[in-house]
Amino acid sequence: MKVLDIRVLGDPVLRKETTEVPQVTNDIRTLISQMFDTMYAAEGIGLAAPQVGRTERVCVMDVDGQKFAFVNPQIIESEGTIRGEEGCLSIPEIFGDVTRASRVVVRALDEHGKEFEAAGTELLARCMQHEIDHLDGKLFIDYLSVLKRRSAMSKWEKLKEDYPNFIRQVSLEQAGPHGSEGEL
Ligand code: NI
Repeated sequence: MKVLDIRVLGDPVLRKETTEVPQVTNDIRTLISQMFDTMYAAEGIGLAAPQVGRTERVCVMDVDGQKFAFVNPQIIESEGTIRGEEGCLSIPEIFGDVTRASRVVVRALDEHGKEFEAAGTELLARCMQHEIDHLDGKLFIDYLSVLKRRSAMSKWEKLKEDYPNFIRQVSLEQAGPHGSEGEL
């Protein structure tokens, strides 16, 4: 088991476009396994490669036991809208309401390189959209109104001092104190 450092808001890697994975290699499988370890240690429900400083199109999630690793994911269907509170492991302690599709279908490769589709509703759908956004350099705060975003950013100005070099270290021994179910 290996827990990776989580990059927080301010690290340019979070705004970088990721690149398609040409082939699911052992290196990618190791990345996936370490991303799961990191996500669980941080008590999050989803994690995308840029959040651990990588630029491959890979993300993982576990929403109430619905566990997925997506390589090169694409949303191929989306319907309805639902508004709900969202957070992010890369922006600890900041939360905001975001409108998302209420149901999506994702097409991706699994850890063996096999194509599959997965449908999600409610929190799983929200998590799928949030993580795929990460792969396009997009963060949930981008959806907040100007005022809400401004207040979130002024709160972050103080919080970010806890993360020198934009690094959030998590360990298996002491999960939290910042971890929260709502962080994706
Ligand atoms: Ni996130």
